[in-house]
Amino acid sequence: MSDSRGLTYHVTPGGSLHGSVHIPGDKSISHRALMLAAVTDGDCRLTGFLAGEDTLATRNALVVMGVGFDQTDETSLTVHGVGLHGLVDPEAPLDLGNSGTSARLMTGLLSGAGINCEITGDASLRRRPMARVIEPLQSMGADITAGDGQTLPIRIRQSGRLQGIRYQMPVASAQLKSCLLLAGMYASSPTCIEQPALSRDHTERMLTALGADVTVENNIVCIQPVTSLQPKEIHIPADISSAAFFMVGALISPGSDVTLPGVGINPTRDAVIGILQSMGGRIEINNEREISGEPVADIRVLASDLHGIDIPPSRVPNAIDEFPAILIAAAVADGRTRLSGAAELRVKESDRIASMSDGLSRLGIQNRVFDDGMEVEGGVIQAGEVDSYGDHRVAMAFAMAGLVATGPVMVRDCANVATSFPGFLERAQAAGLSIRRDPP
Ligand code: S3P
Repeated sequence: MSDSRGLTYHVTPGGSLHGSVHIPGDKSISHRALMLAAVTDGDCRLTGFLAGEDTLATRNALVVMGVGFDQTDETSLTVHGVGLHGLVDPEAPLDLGNSGTSARLMTGLLSGAGINCEITGDASLRRRPMARVIEPLQSMGADITAGDGQTLPIRIRQSGRLQGIRYQMPVASAQLKSCLLLAGMYASSPTCIEQPALSRDHTERMLTALGADVTVENNIVCIQPVTSLQPKEIHIPADISSAAFFMVGALISPGSDVTLPGVGINPTRDAVIGILQSMGGRIEINNEREISGEPVADIRVLASDLHGIDIPPSRVPNAIDEFPAILIAAAVADGRTRLSGAAELRVKESDRIASMSDGLSRLGIQNRVFDDGMEVEGGVIQAGEVDSYGDHRVAMAFAMAGLVATGPVMVRDCANVATSFPGFLERAQAAGLSIRRDPP
């Protein structure tokens, strides 16, 4: 992973966002497409794939476990599936960089497949909680060991066939649910997972499309043992989490009018749209359609007068990655915005409540922090310098804040933007944001 401290964004205020902005492929779906295609019984063609550092970490891990890939261009590739039991033990530790999704889903897949391996990542990933996946996998019979604090690196040892479990998840985490579904494919009996709230359901949709028997009733997801997965072509929509930065940039900068084509609007992911609309955002959803079992639309966003709201905690799990962007909207909205029920933000790529609070304060925006959220008083964003704390989404959120600041905004530590949004800077420039990077 790159030395993230070295890259700074410089944003000059003014201007507005215009035109059609092509947003890269969905990160969550790209990870799942790679992992599931890798264990199908044949060749799967993926289009719209996100070639970001996180998804490339997943691909590289699969390569060293024997999976072949043919890349047609940056976003299209064929995965040569090795079958459910075809992965081989890697010779060296699997380094999954900054990617929590790779680490947690891979831990489930490899525990089920009985792969002897060590999983590690960068300093941020090595701080993130893994007990949430280790404990239920151990109760399925997996042999996993971790250091003190149950963080990476972890070691998986082949332990015989897993047993299915019935498990009540302590947090509404799609990574945890997906980890257990992937392990559950290999178990000798069904695995049922009860979610405290609905989290993103891309894994359930893709498993079903590839022929697995997955049922969802109320908030309980069950998977039957799988004997094989059938190869299929998978089209990946544009990532709503990446689109969120352009949505907020357009809403806050007078005169803006942008269209974001082909964005995934899965109802377990789309709460950002409703939250921004409740704040007064003019967002149109056009040309709704379905691709590879996922709903997609073209999203048009117009500059709007925003006002603060109390964000309903029930909407938090379905907008969990969009709060850095939403909090920038809150910073320019008229009045106060209150976010609660969002303690999970503290264990993302950075502690996003702390990182956003720090950056907002540095730009003159009053805010108050709680254990599970924060309150932001809308105001005038001042010139200043903020630290992204190596968090891609914090970096992109503050870059958009620069549109309406009273003077230049510098955002430090931005190299990890490449984990989820390669080409962010060029697309932002083309849309009208006055942004440059240092070093160039
Ligand atoms: C993801 C789930 C979410 C999200 C992350 C991607 C996924 O994490 O924040 O960026 O692909 O399943 P949690 O499941 O930990 O909430």
